[in-house]
Amino acid sequence: MRIGVLGTGMVGPAIATKLVSLGHDVRMGSREAGNEKAVAWAAEAGEGASEGNFADAASHGELVVNCTAGVASLEALGAAGEDNLAGKVLIDIANPLDFSHGMPPTLAFCNDDSLGERIQAAFPAARVVKALNTMNCQVMVEPTRVPGDHAVFISGEDDGAKHEVAELLASFGWPSERIVDLGGSGARGTEMYLPLWLNLYGQLQTGDFNISVLAAKS
Ligand SMILES: NC(=O)c1ccc[n+]([C@@H]2O[C@H](COP(=O)([O-])OP(=O)(O)OC[C@H]3O[C@@H](n4cnc5c(N)ncnc54)[C@H](OP(=O)(O)O)[C@@H]3O)[C@@H](O)[C@H]2O)c1
Repeated sequence: MRIGVLGTGMVGPAIATKLVSLGHDVRMGSREAGNEKAVAWAAEAGEGASEGNFADAASHGELVVNCTAGVASLEALGAAGEDNLAGKVLIDIANPLDFSHGMPPTLAFCNDDSLGERIQAAFPAARVVKALNTMNCQVMVEPTRVPGDHAVFISGEDDGAKHEVAELLASFGWPSERIVDLGGSGARGTEMYLPLWLNLYGQLQTGDFNISVLAAKS
């Protein structure tokens, strides 16, 4: 599949490298084509890897992944272009963390709102699925780094899009029973988990941990 990965931080290269290793044709997007990190990634990832600006990457992709800074994601997706996102599954991994008041970051908005929902509202023709935002990027693409039956959440209004994302997650190594659908506004809860994730990261001194959901059989 042709996939556009928006973002040159830690998540973009981790996701893009995994996708190339699975045989996908991946273009990494940045604010400006020729971004130093994107060029280095494309050279290292080799065949099936290319780079460009956000619009280049989004138009390239049959599926698009948002790995941009959460407080800038609407701006980045605006640069990617509404038409380049229309009708496509858009996986949103970003968290709306506001670092402007120092550490630890706060959530720019929450409770009755989420970035996933704001993206869906701003780009109604895109098929937005919030996923993978509750774990470190290395765990996203290599779930066996964490032992046990830990979970990945998917949220959004489009059941067909969530099904496609679940298939992609399965190809990353996520067993289907550990892919948990949280429904339409599930992005709220997953984004509001971030303060706890940051707290745990500080205490555990490793990013190799995740949520396990244990329920009594009904
Ligand atoms: N790090 C993790 O393991 C992890 C885990 C879960 C979720 N997340 C979430 O995933 C997202 C990416 O995280 P990250 O650590 O990889 O990178 P990041 O530093 O949060 O974001 C880097 C990307 O955001 C873009 N960006 C920054 N400011 C922008 C602006 N004003 N307008 C447009 N684009 C802008 C950058 O564009 P350029 O390429 O042009 O510089 C770059 O591509 C974040 O939302 C984060 O909360 C991260």
